[in-house]
Amino acid sequence: MNFKTFNQRGRVHGIFIPPGDKSISHRAIMFGALASGKSEFSHFLEAEDCLHTMKAFQAMGVSIKHIPGSGQVTIEGKGMRSLQAPAGELYLGNSGTSMRLMMGILAGQRFECVLSGDPSLSSRPMKRVTQPLKQMGAQIKGRDQGNYAPLTIRGGKLKGIEFENILASAQVKSAILFAGLFAEGETIVIEPRASRDHTEKLLQACGAKFEQADQSLKVTLTDRLNPISFAIPGDFSAAAFFIAAAAVIPGSEITIENVCLNPLRIGMVDVLKRMGAKITMVEKSNHPEPCGTIHVEGGKLSGTRITASEIPGLIDELPIIMTVMSLSDGESLISGAEELRVKETDRILSMVTNLNIVGGKLKELPDGCMIQGVSEFKGGVVQSYGDHRTAMCMAIASLAARGEIKIEDVDCVSTSFPTFFKEFERLRN
Ligand code: S3P
Repeated sequence: MNFKTFNQRGRVHGIFIPPGDKSISHRAIMFGALASGKSEFSHFLEAEDCLHTMKAFQAMGVSIKHIPGSGQVTIEGKGMRSLQAPAGELYLGNSGTSMRLMMGILAGQRFECVLSGDPSLSSRPMKRVTQPLKQMGAQIKGRDQGNYAPLTIRGGKLKGIEFENILASAQVKSAILFAGLFAEGETIVIEPRASRDHTEKLLQACGAKFEQADQSLKVTLTDRLNPISFAIPGDFSAAAFFIAAAAVIPGSEITIENVCLNPLRIGMVDVLKRMGAKITMVEKSNHPEPCGTIHVEGGKLSGTRITASEIPGLIDELPIIMTVMSLSDGESLISGAEELRVKETDRILSMVTNLNIVGGKLKELPDGCMIQGVSEFKGGVVQSYGDHRTAMCMAIASLAARGEIKIEDVDCVSTSFPTFFKEFERLRN
């Protein structure tokens, strides 16, 4: 029974501790695998995407201990050159982060391996990563000149390049920086628009030869990474569903604890505040990532505009922001968000379609959408399109629907947030 129906309006109320951050959990495995020594992590995200990264490194001979359900991961890293050729292909499911970041690491190895994924991942563009990695010296083959998985990659002797990250993609940037650790000379990434910097923070914390100045990141050949141990902070992108619901539904009140407050991840907070939301944040710790508490009280919001410069800081939150904008007074506009079309699904199309089905007023644009606020949704039958975030948005939409919302194909939430529906039931009233 891979669908869910919701027929109850409601508010959200209570305390929510989000699961571990997805981006940081992937990187924890990668840095732990390349480091020399023991790294230990708690609050690791036990969702399909991150488990695929873990299994891939285990298949390359890395000793990773994980007791399912505990969030505890221990990695006995054997160094930068310790990975071994896997026996078969590395299947990465739905996870673009696993595939793109791992290509950067595999570009520096001396063996050949094949990376594959599900139909969604196999249709996502990879040339953005494979092209610069080929320029550095990696041999990569795949459909459409290495644009689509399955991809066969043979690493080797790499040389540094200068690369401009015009897509403002943290995945692309991270792949190049990882490859730069294995490359002769300097590898420089120029970032006209800053994207999430979790890789940079861990490069620094693990003692890589890495420098950062303004928009320029530089990495040089690194023989050794130090192991690192820390508690992975909660995922803002998971918390975003409940933050958004609390902000736009009057009478709601929610406290999010232990959530990553990295400024390059929380652009949604600025947008919601601009729309009139009552949100406060308190930072409680800062290593290797800022982490703390967010408190939200519901009220009536008004429309706003989001343009290209803000997109990298809220890229994964745009579907839930579209949901909030649909319930806010007046008109909203999102532009410069064409990257949304190449996520787990085309999120402009999926969200405009779904929100219109349930009674929203949205117009699709090539790089975003125009939204006319409505006071409530009606209800209807919608599809997740196999996209975890689309499915979760439509559950949140049901809180403001006078009729029933049926969401088909909901199992995909396990990609990033397996306990979402349980938390949703707990927090709504
Ligand atoms: C991620 C970067 C973003 C984001 C994805 C995770 C990362 O993708 O959408 O969910 O961990 O680096 P892009 O780099 O393609 O924008």
